[in-house]
Amino acid sequence: MQRIGVIPGDGIGPEVIREARKVLDAVAQKQNLTLEFEEFPHGASHYLKTGEIMSDETIQRLSRKDAILLGAMGDPRVKPGILEKGILLRLRFHFDQYVNLRPVRLFEGVPSPLVDPGKRVDMQFVRENTEDFYVGLGGKVRTGLSRTSLSLQRRAYEAKFDVGIDLKDEDELAFQIGVITKQGARRVMDFAFQLAKRKGIDLVTSVDKANVLTDMYGPWREAADEASRRYGIAKEFLYVDAVALHMVRAPERFKLLVTPNLFGDILTDLGAALQGGLGFAPSGNINPSGVSMFEPVHGSAPDIAGKGIANPVGAILSSALMLETLGHENAAAEIERAVKGLLRSGKVRTPDIGGKTSTSKVGDAVAAAIAEKR
Ligand code: NAI
Ligand code: MG
Repeated sequence: MQRIGVIPGDGIGPEVIREARKVLDAVAQKQNLTLEFEEFPHGASHYLKTGEIMSDETIQRLSRKDAILLGAMGDPRVKPGILEKGILLRLRFHFDQYVNLRPVRLFEGVPSPLVDPGKRVDMQFVRENTEDFYVGLGGKVRTGLSRTSLSLQRRAYEAKFDVGIDLKDEDELAFQIGVITKQGARRVMDFAFQLAKRKGIDLVTSVDKANVLTDMYGPWREAADEASRRYGIAKEFLYVDAVALHMVRAPERFKLLVTPNLFGDILTDLGAALQGGLGFAPSGNINPSGVSMFEPVHGSAPDIAGKGIANPVGAILSSALMLETLGHENAAAEIERAVKGLLRSGKVRTPDIGGKTSTSKVGDAVAAAIAEKR
């Protein structure tokens, strides 16, 4: 049995999660898999009604789950950042979900604004999810002498920064500190190369900007080198700018990319564009030995919420990624096969790609395709 905590969240979150649940129920029945769901109300409405963002008790309950499935956070009635930081980031850090996994695939039948027809796009992004320039260390100083104490708390380590700045000229200076630790780089490399091994991928592309940001990305490269030798899988080093160019010019060359947090954030949005839009992009926030959280890449899309036109494929594929990560590869493959078949046949086309299929019809169709297949 697998215990799944479900947080539908805001906007189109609940709409797409409903479809993912339909598909999970269908595949569970087919594969004799027991999935137990518990829904959590957290998000904008819950916050506006009760003033609660997310309690410690909720975190405790979630920590007893095998995985979390999340829709989206964010609502125009709530100041940006409150829910995103108070729920999404809090869960990522609490459960130390140090890998952000994003498969980027272009399916037959889905038009891409960037990729020539007939070209294959099938790459895995493994993005480091806890370090780099996203550790929240920074500040702003004015002319003269100043001292700032900053502290970084992670599950695995704690670091204190004492920053003294003497700004000589009349001005204001802002700074942001990026951090890469050896163990932080090692563990994400381990994940990347293990994934490559499992999927029969023979080349891992390590992304950085080590020609300019030499201090930070030197250890990153060492970790990639070590992992490549340890797992016996080839690696290449590419600078992030070159990767952006190749992703547009020759996306078929990439199989698995492992990237620091910031570059991964940017490149995976480009990836979403390659694969035909945000509505198709799944993701996982993964701690291989803890509670992982799976969510579509898109946000709560308030502009289309409540209209029944959201594309639920990203959420459905996120639930497949969840099953795969929990070790149910067959069930995951079955969902992907059904989605692929329906997209190829043109039977399922949501308005974001110029079709008329409603959100709930997509889930129905995928669930039916799974139930029918023998
Ligand atoms: P968004 O991803 O919600 O929407 C961007 C555009 O893509 C919109 O025009 C939307 O209609 C369209 N879109 C997104 N998902 C779609 C889908 N499944 N089907 C069809 N069209 C889709 O990003 P936006 O507008 O920047 O942010 C809206 C809210 O979502 C904000 O509060 C933001 O903070 C939050 N957000 C939350 C995320 C999360 O929960 N992980 C990620 C990104 C944004
Ligand atoms: Mg982003």
